[in-house]
Amino acid sequence: MEASVNITNAKVWHRGEILEAGISIADDRIVEVGKDSSLPRAERELDVGGRLVFPGLIDVHCHLRDFELSYKEDFSSGTASAVAGGFTTLLDMPNTKPPTTTPESVRAKIRSMRGKLFCDVGFYATPKAPEQVGGLLDSGCMAIKIYMARSLDGETYSTEEEIYKLLRETSSQGVVLSVHAEDPKMIGMLGENLSPYLHARFHPIKAEERAIEMALSATKRAHGRLHVCHVSTLEGVSKIIRAKRDGIDVTCEATPHHAALTKDVFGRFGKMAVVEPPLRSKRHVEAVLKSISNGDVDILATDHAPHTLEEKERAYPGFPGFEIAVPVFFTLVREGLLPLDRVIDALTIRPARRFSLYNAGIIDVGRMANLTVIDLKREKRIDQNRFFSKAKYSPFNGMLVKAGVYATFVRGREVFLDGEIVSPTKLGKVIHGHIHR
Ligand code: NCD
Ligand code: ZN
Ligand code: ZN
Ligand code: ZN
Repeated sequence: MEASVNITNAKVWHRGEILEAGISIADDRIVEVGKDSSLPRAERELDVGGRLVFPGLIDVHCHLRDFELSYKEDFSSGTASAVAGGFTTLLDMPNTKPPTTTPESVRAKIRSMRGKLFCDVGFYATPKAPEQVGGLLDSGCMAIKIYMARSLDGETYSTEEEIYKLLRETSSQGVVLSVHAEDPKMIGMLGENLSPYLHARFHPIKAEERAIEMALSATKRAHGRLHVCHVSTLEGVSKIIRAKRDGIDVTCEATPHHAALTKDVFGRFGKMAVVEPPLRSKRHVEAVLKSISNGDVDILATDHAPHTLEEKERAYPGFPGFEIAVPVFFTLVREGLLPLDRVIDALTIRPARRFSLYNAGIIDVGRMANLTVIDLKREKRIDQNRFFSKAKYSPFNGMLVKAGVYATFVRGREVFLDGEIVSPTKLGKVIHGHIHR
């Protein structure tokens, strides 16, 4: 058989080890992993200059926006930004406009995404009531997401009892419930336009700790499967660690900003650095880092949350994350602050397993050819003006980083190579767990 492309002169992450090897791709599949000289003949060869090839990275927490929020980001710009950041599989959040809260809105998302995706995308939905979980899953969403401190469409999941009832549904359907864990009773709601210092004070450590405690207790009682989004505090992580030891089925994720930035950046970046949960002090950042290192934080996720600059001046929370994640996490690896195998695990196999993403996370013969080629030798400063996202700002702007994405393959084709989007055809697909009608 003739392959379509051979990736040669590579270091391939294969079954937890780095192999000096090449990869042959035919159509959208990996057909060989082995010494360059042993690869089958191919139409083309791509010499990656000794760089590392990993399974295509997965991001289980991002906001692609689109629809009425297309002015912030849309499916094309968002997934272009994702592949430029090395991501090949995404889970998109439901706080869109209109919100992703009904089977109709899920189907509208599926229809609208077709033909616009540079990488694969699945998504979350938020049920208006627990008994609607089944209908949402049947219509094609991958998992369920709730915001304890806000409502997308009239629903509320802010008490242990409400979360417990929802968890009974999600666990009987075999899906994960992801939560934004902040207890609304403990966060200040003084509207927009806050300084980052005041915003952070209104989103105290206690609010996260208490919300995680409630969600864990509900999970224990319901025998549910819980995923805690963007953990940011020592206290929150500690609760999760204890729950894991008690046998509760819980995982959690951390973002690049909670792993690498303290609130010291408020002075330089002002409201641009506002995010929920907020940036914290060194004590918390160290706890998050340590927990990523030892695996207590299971998954790394970007929480890519684009807004316009004008909205950021009014302190809308969130900022783009796809294009800084690899540089930031792999710089931490190069500085000895995170182990390489743990970072790979947290961006590939762990999210794939937790969210049943069968096409993702592994390089092997017969697998989908989703690949991320990373350069661990270059040094560069993060430059927000070069982002493919519509949101061209970052609290990481100007940071000196020691790693970057060299190429991204989606379904057998390089879509991003050496700084450019090189595939005009959008090969990404909508992924879904259940049958959609
Ligand atoms: C997110 C957004 O803008 O949608 N903002 C944020 O600060 N993280 C919402 C969220 O993830 O909570
Ligand atoms: Zn959130
Ligand atoms: Zn988010
Ligand atoms: Zn389908």
